[in-house]
Amino acid sequence: MKAYELAQFGIEHVQRVLMDDPTPGPGQVLVKLNAASINYRDYMICMGQFAPPEDLPIVPLSDGAGEVVAVGDGVTGLGIGDHVSPLFFPRWMSGDALGDERAVSTGCEVDGCLREYGVFDEQGVVKCASHLTDEQAACFPCAGLTAWNALVTTSDVQPGDSVLVLGTGSVSIFTVQFAKALGARVIVTSSSDEKLKRAKTLGADDVINYRDTSEWGLAAKELTAGRGVDVVVEVGGTSTLGQSFKAIRRGGHIPIIGALAGEKMDMLVYDLIGTNAHVHGISVGNRHDCQAMMDFVDQHGITPVIDQTYGFDEAADAIRAIDKGAHVGKLIITI
Ligand SMILES: NC(=O)c1ccc[n+]([C@@H]2O[C@H](COP(=O)([O-])OP(=O)(O)OC[C@H]3O[C@@H](n4cnc5c(N)ncnc54)[C@H](OP(=O)(O)O)[C@@H]3O)[C@@H](O)[C@H]2O)c1
Repeated sequence: MKAYELAQFGIEHVQRVLMDDPTPGPGQVLVKLNAASINYRDYMICMGQFAPPEDLPIVPLSDGAGEVVAVGDGVTGLGIGDHVSPLFFPRWMSGDALGDERAVSTGCEVDGCLREYGVFDEQGVVKCASHLTDEQAACFPCAGLTAWNALVTTSDVQPGDSVLVLGTGSVSIFTVQFAKALGARVIVTSSSDEKLKRAKTLGADDVINYRDTSEWGLAAKELTAGRGVDVVVEVGGTSTLGQSFKAIRRGGHIPIIGALAGEKMDMLVYDLIGTNAHVHGISVGNRHDCQAMMDFVDQHGITPVIDQTYGFDEAADAIRAIDKGAHVGKLIITI
């Protein structure tokens, strides 16, 4: 089968290879992967910047989707023709990860989705929502589940709540879509007026250009008549957290997801004490929540925002593109 491998760090080392076709063992399914999507983490892994895998080579990209084409002995919940996505954490089934549930992640410690076929444990995949193409389904396992975890699992967003979304990257755009479907009011920030126009077409109620409005946290708070937003979905880090604390209402939720604007947290303890905010570290999510997200996606007919689709031959260009930050939503590779 055709595949890509990362043999040493650097995008130039993401190389086309031929591999043996895999065979499913007991409890496993063989999936013909038809699409993969790119997350910022995939770029960082390829560059050796994020939890670098100890054993190279690996097949990159955590997220993909495809069709079950063979099943091993003892598989009961899946059959040939089912469309599935591998889990980001194939061993994390439910609840908190108190043991080694997160020791293995797809596209890092085990091979990812930039290949024609993959063998996965039956419990290591979820069925895709029925209205999604494989290109669309490939968008959800990391970015979608992270947004779901931030909004639903940890912040319990209710109709009428206000949610502040930072930037227009892939997690943020899923946050907009899920928050709107949950009945929340959504405020989006971006460095680009063009992207803010796009965010409006996706349902954003209010938008703020964070380049033009340095006190965007206060601006968001003013949009809630001074009460503060119920949830800030934090993807920035160092240089955004201060404003996020200015935006949050007393007792609101700040799920911490990313470090696009720096990874050292420099904050006043009094920000936390004064706001009574609940700050949650987010690590994508578990199988139970992934299935709940897929059910919600099915129920609401949500389709992800795909910025650009690349051919299999253009995989390295696609991974590079995530670092340029020109996209709104997801970058996809068809296989
Ligand atoms: N903890 C987890 O489980 C988890 C899961 C997924 C991702 N992440 C992390 O979350 C972050 C976002 O991931 P992603 O896939 O959404 O990335 P992405 O698609 O690459 O997001 C890029 C966008 O982030 C926005 N951005 C950059 N700096 C910003 C700033 N200072 N303030 C506000 N927005 C800013 C920009 O939006 P504009 O162009 O509109 O300004 C940029 O286009 C990354 O750090 C990623 O590693 C963590």
